[in-house]
Amino acid sequence: MKISSATFVISSTSYQGCPAPDKPEYAFVGRSNVGKSSLINMLVGRKKLAKTSSHPGKTQTINHFLVNENWYLVDLPGYGYAKISKKMREEWQVFIRDYVLYRENLGCVFVLVDSSIPLQKIDLEFLEWLGEKGVAFAIVFTKTDKEKRNIINKHVATFKERILENWEELPPVFLTSAGKKEGAEEILTFIEEVSRQFG
Ligand code: GTP
Ligand code: MG
Repeated sequence: MKISSATFVISSTSYQGCPAPDKPEYAFVGRSNVGKSSLINMLVGRKKLAKTSSHPGKTQTINHFLVNENWYLVDLPGYGYAKISKKMREEWQVFIRDYVLYRENLGCVFVLVDSSIPLQKIDLEFLEWLGEKGVAFAIVFTKTDKEKRNIINKHVATFKERILENWEELPPVFLTSAGKKEGAEEILTFIEEVSRQFG
């Protein structure tokens, strides 16, 4: 898919404050610092559209970006970051949860998983929860440039095995590196296909 435009629309602190749900929407969730904002920038080919930081906890609101005038990319805060106050963390978790449950135009939730570190329990728990709620999701492994290929492959394989302990089949899986700009086209093609089904 060719990206001809990508613009920031609005930051919201609850799903009720989001734009009218009249276009297909794709949200990026995952632990703080996993690379959600960086992935969004890579997808649209813009370095600074979504704000990134080496410090976890950068994105604190629901951020809508309009792409090609006809679909939304959504950057969310991370889950499971221990160093922010408990109160803040709970507030974020509630609004991530409500957003995912009640946002009616969600085409797919992309759950980002850091491929450079061993499996994190919280990622599996989040997937379980999405499954229980019947939310359509895909998995995006990030930071494939940060470790040797055999280590990345091992982490990815272990993660897939663990998923298959609880599910009959794997969801769509993507491998990406925002650092090396790899994996964007596959995700954009997938988004295009899902959007087509929206009619
Ligand atoms: P929060 O908004 O805090 O939840 O974080 P986030 O998930 O949006 O992460 P962000 O995109 O801000 O990236 C966090 C850090 O990881 C930054 O220092 C990025 O440069 C780095 N990073 C993101 N993607 C990659 C990648 O593919 N490779 C490498 N090596 N670093 C990456
Ligand atoms: Mg972010």
